[in-house]
Amino acid sequence: MKPFSKETYIQRRAELKKRVGNGLLLFLGNGEVGMNYADNAYRFRQDSSFLYYFGGDYAGLAAVIDIENDKEIIFGNELTIDDIVWMGYQPTIKEKSEVVGIYETRPLGDLDSYVKQAQAKGQTIHFLPPYRGEHQVWLQELLGINPAEQAAKASVTMIKAIVDMRNHKTPEEIEHIEAAIDVSVDMHLAAYREVRPGKTEAQIAAAVEQTVMSQDCFRSFPTIATTKGQTLHQHAFMNTLQDGDIFLLDAGAEDPLHYAGDLSSSMPVSEKFTEQQAMIYNLHLKTFQAAVDTLAPGVPFKQAHLNAATVLCEGMKEIGLMKGDPKEAAYSGAYAIFFPCGLGHMMGLDVHDMENLGEQYVGYPEGVKKSTQFGFKSLRLARPLEPGFVFTVEPGIYFIPELIDKWQAEKQFTDFICYDKLDAWKGFTGLRNELDYLITEDGARVLGHKKKPMTIEEVYAAKG
Ligand code: GLY
Repeated sequence: MKPFSKETYIQRRAELKKRVGNGLLLFLGNGEVGMNYADNAYRFRQDSSFLYYFGGDYAGLAAVIDIENDKEIIFGNELTIDDIVWMGYQPTIKEKSEVVGIYETRPLGDLDSYVKQAQAKGQTIHFLPPYRGEHQVWLQELLGINPAEQAAKASVTMIKAIVDMRNHKTPEEIEHIEAAIDVSVDMHLAAYREVRPGKTEAQIAAAVEQTVMSQDCFRSFPTIATTKGQTLHQHAFMNTLQDGDIFLLDAGAEDPLHYAGDLSSSMPVSEKFTEQQAMIYNLHLKTFQAAVDTLAPGVPFKQAHLNAATVLCEGMKEIGLMKGDPKEAAYSGAYAIFFPCGLGHMMGLDVHDMENLGEQYVGYPEGVKKSTQFGFKSLRLARPLEPGFVFTVEPGIYFIPELIDKWQAEKQFTDFICYDKLDAWKGFTGLRNELDYLITEDGARVLGHKKKPMTIEEVYAAKG
């Protein structure tokens, strides 16, 4: 797929300038990070806001948008002959910057004096909250702000402007997201084909990884491939798949421009689910549908979360694991014993889009604070939905023995939870499915051109 034209980047920066209004906007690109020594580095990943405004998908860059002086500059050092001997020929920073409509480049060492002169002239320096140690050191050197104070002193005006722009995906961004989702579906189809008793979690993860890398993409986050799905982010691959297990895959691709896909699937390791597993799987599909039926412009995502939770509590009451009024159980937070995370999160250049800028800004409307209550506190997205928003829907049902024991000992929600029945369910593990959605002018649509299996019939067909 084609990279974006320079006009896209020029227009994004112009819009950002208009929204912030004054001062100097400082963007620190990411550097290489050594795993155990400098030359043995983790895979390089550029900062997503840097990518959004400057493209520049390589290490060692910074950029400024100097609003008062009408300048846009990329700072970075051209490769030396030593670099070229080890890394091969690459276009110059000047050439790479022109592709995104930036015609002034300077050595990285010039950034310090540029920023200090702007400060001396009384210009406001806008910067984003740092999430890497080296950025904290860099910001301290540039601005003299102690790392412990940098997040609090980051520019709220700049954060809000970027969040609002990046939250509203354009059609060309949607194309990239859908390309990433299509590869993500292939990753999941590989797992459906591979999962069977005797295989290891690592072998399934390897098949998933092979699928993404062979399509010129990379995973958008560390793959979860587990038979212990009750642990929400189980990143270890420790187990051999056994007859009767549920296998959970949470995996996605990012495309070459770094737009993410994020999907989850749950499937039987044996040919079929047990009756009990099928019952919980189908209940979970009902919660999924309740969430999706709620999605529309203007409707808070929290309502979709609550509607899914209410259906979950209705189902659990029918099974005999909950009692009382299901809606009250959902709204009180009792549901979280089975569903302790949020229904979904924004997705874009980051799989949890812009989490580094603050979930409060990304996922919550002005004036509404994120809850601190267990369950609701993990809801990353709650705000009224708007056309252009892209996010995941990923309800799950989890039986977490430690959580059950803790809540039982604390006598939490005894009006709603039948603890005496839950002992027998502690070995169930957990399951979820996840798809990615776009809010349109009049509703919502699932993203991607390929279908990920969802119903039990589709799951069995995909297993072959
Ligand atoms: N899919 C991984 C996550 O949402 O955290």
